[in-house]
Amino acid sequence: MNQLFKKVKIVEVGPRDGLQNIKDSISTENKVRFVEMLADAGCTNIEITAFVHPKLIPQLADSGEVCAKLAVRPGVQYSVLVPNAKGMERAIEFGIKEIAVFTAASETFNMKNTNTTIDGSIERFREVVDMARKNNIAVRGYVSTVFGCPFEKQIAPEKVLEVTGKLFDLGIYEVSLGDTIGVAVPTDVERVLEKVLAKFDMAKIALHMHDTRGTALANVVKGREMGITVFDASAGGLGGCPFAPGAAGNLATEDIVYTFEKMGVSTGIDIEKLTQASRFMEGVLGRKLPSRYLSTK
Ligand code: HMG
Ligand code: MG
Repeated sequence: MNQLFKKVKIVEVGPRDGLQNIKDSISTENKVRFVEMLADAGCTNIEITAFVHPKLIPQLADSGEVCAKLAVRPGVQYSVLVPNAKGMERAIEFGIKEIAVFTAASETFNMKNTNTTIDGSIERFREVVDMARKNNIAVRGYVSTVFGCPFEKQIAPEKVLEVTGKLFDLGIYEVSLGDTIGVAVPTDVERVLEKVLAKFDMAKIALHMHDTRGTALANVVKGREMGITVFDASAGGLGGCPFAPGAAGNLATEDIVYTFEKMGVSTGIDIEKLTQASRFMEGVLGRKLPSRYLSTK
């Protein structure tokens, strides 16, 4: 195995993607505790919340309080999902050092998710990136519905290339390709990544696989074989997007950590401590989480 691929970066999105669609009320204190337990487990990149419209995503309406209660931690990058300049103003107010913007390869999904066209979101990001540059804030980007859309179904890989290119042109440092509704299988990943990696630096491409049909882990392993070294995951497999009907959570962080570590690929995450963080959320929610690894403990 190529030495370069013996280490991967896991971006933990549980506190944002994992919680955003949950209807039960979760206290700010429990959200903060969850993030701290993830950091204790060795997660170095954690998406902690979102500065989006609180009426659309009520679970994250306390995003400011979550940010204010989390102390800066050396070696841990806390990031926040931001859709526009208004969200960016809040990120600056709370001293956030990394944000993630999000658009899609499907016009219909993007409109439902953010009330604008794909080009409209790119225009919003122009301002966001400008504000980020002036405030020394790193900007990551998501492209949703890369492998299929709940409304438009098939997505042309050329559209993925076009949107990804527009994000990189803005100066975004890493683009995460989202299987928002979890429809991809490894041959889809291969088909899309062959085109993406022919055009863009593979070190700047991440995969964000939802696990609706149990194919996310196979897709991630395919991505790694093709050279991808950054993967998003959600502790316990929490999650889903309220604007993507039927979508389940992201690939469970325990499942990706177990698989990679056993394959000799370092994630830097302590699986037992990670399990404690997921168990904590199971206690908060009063139900089991879908991670396969958790189910064996
Ligand atoms: P809009 O309605 O187009 O915004 O919403 P607007 O600029 O026209 O303003 C309308 C109102 O929204 C105004 O308030 C603004 O102040 C307010 P009013 O004057 O009517 O009282 N507003 C805001 N409030 C709080 N924070 C803001 C903000 N911006 C405007 N940042 C907007 C556009 C994007 C804000 C809205 O559509 C929204 O919040 N959507 C939620 C999107 C979301 O969070 N989706 C889930 C996350 S994405 C995801 O899960 C996919 C991902 O995981 C990858 C994958 O899986 O593929 C990332
Ligand atoms: Mg997602």
